[in-house]
Amino acid sequence: MRLYLLVNAACCVTFCNGIGGKSQRMLINEALMENYDRFNRPVLNTSHPVTIRVNPSLFSIIEVDVAKQTLTFKQWLNMYWYDPHLIWNPDLYEGVDQIMMQRSTIWLPDIVIVEQTSVDQVSDELSVAKIKNDGYVSIASDQLVTVTCQYDVSNFPYDTQNCSLRFSSWMYSAQEIDPYANEPTDLTVYNENGEWTLRSYTSRKRTSMADGDVYVDLYYDIKITRKPSYYITTFIWPSFLITCLSIVGVFSPFNDAGEREEKLTMGLTTLLTMAVILMIITDQMPKSSNGIPLLGTFIMLEIGIASVATLVSVFIIYTHRNWMDDAPVPNWLLQLTCMSEKKRESTSPSAIKQAWKLKDNMERESRSDPKLLVTIRKGTETLNLNINISDMRNESLRDQWSKVTHRLDLFLMIIFLIANVIICVIVMAIGNSKLND
Ligand SMILES: *[C@@H]1O[C@H](CO)[C@@H](O)[C@H](O)[C@H]1NC(C)=O
Repeated sequence: MRLYLLVNAACCVTFCNGIGGKSQRMLINEALMENYDRFNRPVLNTSHPVTIRVNPSLFSIIEVDVAKQTLTFKQWLNMYWYDPHLIWNPDLYEGVDQIMMQRSTIWLPDIVIVEQTSVDQVSDELSVAKIKNDGYVSIASDQLVTVTCQYDVSNFPYDTQNCSLRFSSWMYSAQEIDPYANEPTDLTVYNENGEWTLRSYTSRKRTSMADGDVYVDLYYDIKITRKPSYYITTFIWPSFLITCLSIVGVFSPFNDAGEREEKLTMGLTTLLTMAVILMIITDQMPKSSNGIPLLGTFIMLEIGIASVATLVSVFIIYTHRNWMDDAPVPNWLLQLTCMSEKKRESTSPSAIKQAWKLKDNMERESRSDPKLLVTIRKGTETLNLNINISDMRNESLRDQWSKVTHRLDLFLMIIFLIANVIICVIVMAIGNSKLND
């Protein structure tokens, strides 16, 4: 008898004055579930819709896959509504005014994100609903959601994306359920993403027609901007430097021992490097993207500059080879390089030949007159000097050619380098202006 009393007392302490070992929660649950139909909308007047407050609290953006056009994020989806069948008087249950219930035992709204391709309920087995004694029901789920999203990559890597999530009921039309968004949208638990900056997270309410029924849609727009520093350091900056190097390389001074191949190789190596960079970039882009992303345009321009520079330098080498054919430096080249035309004090080879002929003739005819002969001999000495000059002229022509091409190389190198810098600056400026859109 004494032992029984003791056990009874222990029981009472343990279950907080429950009857027959049952807790107040179980009693409330039993009372509520007695005539509960979980497929019945929780309204007293069936012509009224169930009003549901939806509050998806964005926790973090996990992954933005531009190539696959998906967005993965983690959210805490909270929903609140009023269920008039879940009401009790707390005075009858020792003041218990709030209980937890298995979610599957009560009516639940079937609100989903229309764009979702997969949802991972992080704590599914723990999913309960919290019910207040006045019928106020709240549920919260921890979800890892992947949705499809149309990305516009034309400003990549300075792009801003706007992903719209459409929260909508699958089965209940606007007459049956009326969801509304919690204002303002909940960012209290948001964690920053390393690659993307969250610009805004807003909601708007729309209605849509499907199968003749009107449905309420809650749109949540996630606006994110990419942090471009990674792409600047790994793509833009190296491409710029490689192009600069190749421009300096192909216009660097050379001797005329046929280094043409070397310059071509230099140019081709640059193009190869650029092609690899371009491939890495296009791998990250959707295959069917409309238009070329900004970074792609930049790489293409760099490729263009490097190829034009290589072609021009090869052209210069070809022009330079003209000295071998005794060709004078063309006027446009002299003007372009600000070189004055060398005075042609020496006569041309044909003139010299004529002079020689003239001298022979004169010598022949003046054999009788020794005085005249001496004068002619003197004249011949001057001619000899001229002939020597003519020999040297070839050397000086070669000199002039190398000076001209050297200057031309330098001139073009500077032009191309400036063009490269301008392109880089313009691309960065366009990008930065797009960042703040
Ligand atoms: C995102 O796009 C939707 C529809 O395309 C638009 O209504 C909404 O205003 C946009 N959000 C932002 C923040 O630009």
